[in-house]
Amino acid sequence: MAFNNSTLTPESLIKILAIYITCCALPVLFYFTPGIVPSQNQTSLTPTAIRSLNPAAKSQRRMRHGSQAANRISNRSRDSSISEGRLLRTRPDNWIGPKGYVTFKDKRPLSKQCQSCALVNSAGRLLGQGAGEDIDDADCVIRMNSAPTEGYQHDVGTRTSFRVIGHRNFPLLLSTMRKRRWYLGDPATRSDLVVVWHYGVRWKYNPAERWCRVFCVMYHQVNVYLSSEQVMKRNEQMFYKELNISKSEVKVWMSTGWGAMLFALDVCDQIDVYGMIYEDFCREHPNDTAPYHYYHDDAKKAECGYYNRSEGAARHGHKFLTEKAVFAKWAAAYGIRFHLPYWDDQLKGYGADTVVDTLFKRRYREYERNKRRQEPRAAQAKAQNATPSA
Ligand SMILES: *[C@@H]1O[C@H](CO)[C@@H](O)[C@H](O)[C@H]1NC(C)=O
Ligand SMILES: *[C@@H]1O[C@H](CO)[C@@H](O)[C@H](O)[C@H]1NC(C)=O
Ligand SMILES: *[C@@H]1O[C@H](CO)[C@@H](O)[C@H](O)[C@H]1NC(C)=O
Ligand SMILES: *[C@@H]1O[C@H](CO)[C@@H](O)[C@H](O)[C@H]1NC(C)=O
Ligand SMILES: *[C@@H]1O[C@H](CO)[C@@H](O)[C@H](O)[C@H]1NC(C)=O
Repeated sequence: MAFNNSTLTPESLIKILAIYITCCALPVLFYFTPGIVPSQNQTSLTPTAIRSLNPAAKSQRRMRHGSQAANRISNRSRDSSISEGRLLRTRPDNWIGPKGYVTFKDKRPLSKQCQSCALVNSAGRLLGQGAGEDIDDADCVIRMNSAPTEGYQHDVGTRTSFRVIGHRNFPLLLSTMRKRRWYLGDPATRSDLVVVWHYGVRWKYNPAERWCRVFCVMYHQVNVYLSSEQVMKRNEQMFYKELNISKSEVKVWMSTGWGAMLFALDVCDQIDVYGMIYEDFCREHPNDTAPYHYYHDDAKKAECGYYNRSEGAARHGHKFLTEKAVFAKWAAAYGIRFHLPYWDDQLKGYGADTVVDTLFKRRYREYERNKRRQEPRAAQAKAQNATPSA
């Protein structure tokens, strides 16, 4: 009886409610909120972050490094003699521009057009090359997926204007509180995010939108742009059009690099790419062992080994080397410059009418031929099996 009485009193109900709030609701609240930066205490920023936030400091730095910068720029023009003077002459036929990227929150299109962009590939070959200052000199710096800057500033720079993320990597990027704080919360490390798709997803059920529903709203300081359906379709069309291969047949995934390159073409007047190899690089450097990423989340994975394996499969997966062959075409047509390694010698034979013919395309043709040869035989075998044995 006493037990019944005590559970029914209003006081005990309040107690239970209080316990519930303390045990469940508050931790949940704290779990989500720390990423929302409590105070914008600028003094807690790192010196590099302050420098990148302060345009005056940036120009001072440029003056201080004037002679070095001149040296670097002269290298740049020497190494880019072919593409120099051709920048921005033409845009892709199906150029969409910044408006193709729309914020999740309020469906606001991206409005920034960058005069110059550094597109920083995540490749291990950037290590020890000291491209950081060149990269930071660009109007906008574009990075991919989870590529960090901390600890690698000398080689990859300090600033991030846009981080382009493949839709499958987006949940990974936000999977822990530490990551959410780093990519979305902390003013020293966060940047605008742009989500691109590796392959056509059913638009209504795309996972990026599900994740955004929670985190893009919570971390309201950051703009998270999702590729519009128009951009997504264009990106796929360009891939299959260049290859003259039907999409439903091969089930190939576009890489984040593909999405990032098209994003750069949409928002940048001038594009400098760092750390991206050309199609024949691995063949020309058979002993190259540079890792796939400069950060060590998969230290054992060598770029050339991974690229070779993916490229050699007739169907499925990424086709990195094929993408590079298409980029070479675009470099010639739209004036993209590649550094570390330089691509100029690779671009000489390329024009808008170049037909891309890569290892993947050869493998795919082989696969089709075999299939055609096997089909009549398989049909015959089936017919024989179906014949009733008298
Ligand atoms: C900002 O942080 C510094 C040290 O990190 C501290 O001394 C200062 O009082 C803080 N200012 C505000 C307004 O919180
Ligand atoms: C630029 O060129 C000079 C001379 O050719 C060379 O010493 C220097 O290392 C180069 N710098 C870069 C960043 O490539
Ligand atoms: C594209 O592929 C088709 C067959 O799939 C072929 O007939 C056509 O010649 C190809 N076009 C080019 C430009 O290679
Ligand atoms: C990649 O393939 C090329 C041939 O196309 C070969 O020469 C090179 O050694 C391969 N690299 C690796 C790491 O497998
Ligand atoms: C690659 O390594 C092999 C054996 O270690 C060597 O014989 C060959 O010369 C190397 N090739 C290049 C291009 O360095």
